[in-house]
Amino acid sequence: MKGIILSGGTATRLFPLTATTSKQLLPVYDRQMIFYPLNTLIKAGIKDILIIVAPEHSGQYLNLLGSIFEKYDIRIDFKVQKLPRGLAEAFVLGEDFIDNENVVMILGDNIFEDDFSQDIKNFKSGAKIFAKKVADWQRFGIVKFNKNNKAVKIVEKPIKWISDYAIPGLYVFDKNVSAIAKKVKPSERGEKEITSLHNYYLKKGKLDVNIVKGAWLDAGTFDTLLEAGNIVKEKEIYKKFDPLIDKAIIEFNEELKVIAKKRLI
Ligand code: G1P
Repeated sequence: MKGIILSGGTATRLFPLTATTSKQLLPVYDRQMIFYPLNTLIKAGIKDILIIVAPEHSGQYLNLLGSIFEKYDIRIDFKVQKLPRGLAEAFVLGEDFIDNENVVMILGDNIFEDDFSQDIKNFKSGAKIFAKKVADWQRFGIVKFNKNNKAVKIVEKPIKWISDYAIPGLYVFDKNVSAIAKKVKPSERGEKEITSLHNYYLKKGKLDVNIVKGAWLDAGTFDTLLEAGNIVKEKEIYKKFDPLIDKAIIEFNEELKVIAKKRLI
């Protein structure tokens, strides 16, 4: 199975912080935000990961992640997305990388407390998404369930209430997703919406929706970025990382210290 992290976008809600770097390289407690989605994928045993970035940040991503996992048999690839054209566009950009395998996509600013390893490892075909009850349903892709807890309707940022269940930015799709994404027509805001893919699989009866039990944070505003750091600290999410990531970060930091010392001499 392949993994994609979507880290493009301009994150205007976090200006001026994101005038100098990518949102997903901002700190959430003791590490860059991008390590949280990386952890979700690496914990689930995914070894091939494509990170989609904006052109102005590609060098920074390469500096941080270009070789950090080399000796751990985890391959990180990068792809530049010149203009944000919607989340579903990632499967078109990543078609060669996906190479007819199943794929998990996670949004670079989505932080989860839960471990999704089993959900990801047990996935065979169709699509699997997740749902979490929220107060601000206007901000998300929303899924409505019937009395038997079966998903019946999905709407991107509904204007009228249909349900309180938001769809977090973690999606598992089968190998057909690139071909389907190519056919998705852009919405009114000119983007290939991820919810169009969900609706495709829903109509085919091939969409599974699981409930997220633990915390889910999307760190897109000053308040939610601060909240994310606080929750990561309180719930000790930073202590529950795959040990491989912690080792890689420590080694990377040691290397930086050696370089810093040499510069001082
Ligand atoms: C995107 C998706 C939306 C999803 C959300 C999760 O919205 O379009 O369906 O619920 O991510 O973070 P965005 O945050 O890009 O507006």
